[in-house]
Amino acid sequence: MRRYLLRPMLAAAASRYDEDDHPEAIHLGAFADLGGGEELVGVVSFLPRTEQGELSTEVFQLQGMVTLPAVRHKGIGTKLADYGIAILIDGGATSVWCNGRTPARSFYERLGFQAVGKEFITPGTGPHYRFVRDLS
Ligand SMILES: CC(C)(COP(=O)(O)OP(=O)(O)OC[C@H]1O[C@@H](n2cnc3c(N)ncnc32)[C@H](O)[C@@H]1OP(=O)(O)O)[C@@H](O)C(=O)NCCC(=O)NCCS
Repeated sequence: MRRYLLRPMLAAAASRYDEDDHPEAIHLGAFADLGGGEELVGVVSFLPRTEQGELSTEVFQLQGMVTLPAVRHKGIGTKLADYGIAILIDGGATSVWCNGRTPARSFYERLGFQAVGKEFITPGTGPHYRFVRDLS
């Protein structure tokens, strides 16, 4: 889902994150039956990484947030992100951040994130903001 829905124009390696296999990384999937049996319809990951790119036990980056177009606007993305953030809070995390696509700004703001700084362009995936949510 990361590769084909988020970065179809980039090589497969761009959809693999450095901390994917870290023991503190959290990978969540949502499943639903769209008529052909239960299938993966949404994913999100939380990686133990500060905004400066250092490994951390308290600060996590939300990354790879995507749902299938057929299931959007039904609350699945919100449930996935909320579920992961609840796990982070239980584990004592102090903040969560992401580089979120500008069209998803209202989605992140509803989740309690605030945009920080100026909009920036990421090659291949367009305009983004840095979003941060304090969990402490
Ligand atoms: C961003 C994304 C993950 C949201 O997933 P989703 O499953 O549609 O998420 P939700 O349904 O929880 O929320 C999406 C919108 O639907 C609305 N919504 C939630 N439940 C709803 C319902 N039952 N009926 C109608 N609308 C609803 C929410 O208010 C939200 O609106 P907003 O974006 O204007 O704030 C999805 O649109 C996506 O994959 N986009 C493409 C990839 C992308 O941009 N990912 C983010 C990368 S940074």
